[in-house]
Amino acid sequence: MIGQRKDLLGLEDLMAEEIVSILDTARTFRDVLDRPIPKVPSLRGLTAANLFFEASTRTRLSFELAEKRLSADTVHFQTTGSSVSKGETLKDTARNIEAMGIHLVVIRHTAPGAPHYLARNLDAGVINAGDGTHEHPTQGLLDIYTMRERRGRIAGLRVAIIGDVTHSRVARSNIWGLTKLGASVTIAGPPTMIPAEVERFGVAVAKSVDEAIEGADVVNILRIQLERQRTILYPSLREYARVYGITSERLKRAKPDVTVMHPGPMNRGVEIAQDVADGEHSVILEQVTNGIAVRMAVLYLLAGHKAPGETAAETPAMEAKPTHGEPSLPPRR
Ligand code: CP
Repeated sequence: MIGQRKDLLGLEDLMAEEIVSILDTARTFRDVLDRPIPKVPSLRGLTAANLFFEASTRTRLSFELAEKRLSADTVHFQTTGSSVSKGETLKDTARNIEAMGIHLVVIRHTAPGAPHYLARNLDAGVINAGDGTHEHPTQGLLDIYTMRERRGRIAGLRVAIIGDVTHSRVARSNIWGLTKLGASVTIAGPPTMIPAEVERFGVAVAKSVDEAIEGADVVNILRIQLERQRTILYPSLREYARVYGITSERLKRAKPDVTVMHPGPMNRGVEIAQDVADGEHSVILEQVTNGIAVRMAVLYLLAGHKAPGETAAETPAMEAKPTHGEPSLPPRR
């Protein structure tokens, strides 16, 4: 189970029960976030290092807040101003950080597999905060958490994922997690942005956005990843907006109470119209809030704690009481 793992590298690796136990634990932490003092002592004595080799707003702040809400000590690393600019390798950078007594490492990197490499070479637990075009597991988990809260279930949900699937680690983590939990996933986007043989992953590929969102419970809109595209994959952003952008008119094809999601950052007026981004169906800012609870759950469980239901005696909410004992250290290899 997730509590026995050292690392969270991707949703491809997790069993459905492990995903559910993270979501259930996150539910308890979501309640903690609504308290006047949204803090629990669960990770007191542990230190987390956030290593960001690539730009981030939401994920970096969300992990930092999650660590602070769990009473962990936190340190931060960004490529700019570090010895990486002097040629230090990823492994040496991480080993030096670990030598300072770090228990958990959160890493975002442009290279797919960078978190896996660290996980093999460090005793500390490693959490993938996005590795190139591969996976972004905590974004996938917070998306699925938000869908479950809004729709009441995941099994049988009709989820449309629209846009640049080829370059999207968010899409990959969503597809792994949603299909494991029994959702029906349909993707649509420019043919140049849909991976070959993607049906092997248990998703349907629609011929058009209109077809994909017909009757959908959830529409998850992906950002066009201009920085990852090595060639021009679409004639112009105006053309993309016209053919693939989600407008309120197009959204009428989905269920009347459709849930609209976007992982951010948004290209307003391109993949999502202004009035959809800020409209009644949008849960985009709710995703951001839920992300803190989901990351608290991941940190808490990787530190060796049990999910609700795995033990009758201890839940995260109970641990908010001042009688809580010493934190568990991450399991060592
Ligand atoms: N959703 C997401 O990963 O956003 P950031 O790049 O701002 O972290």
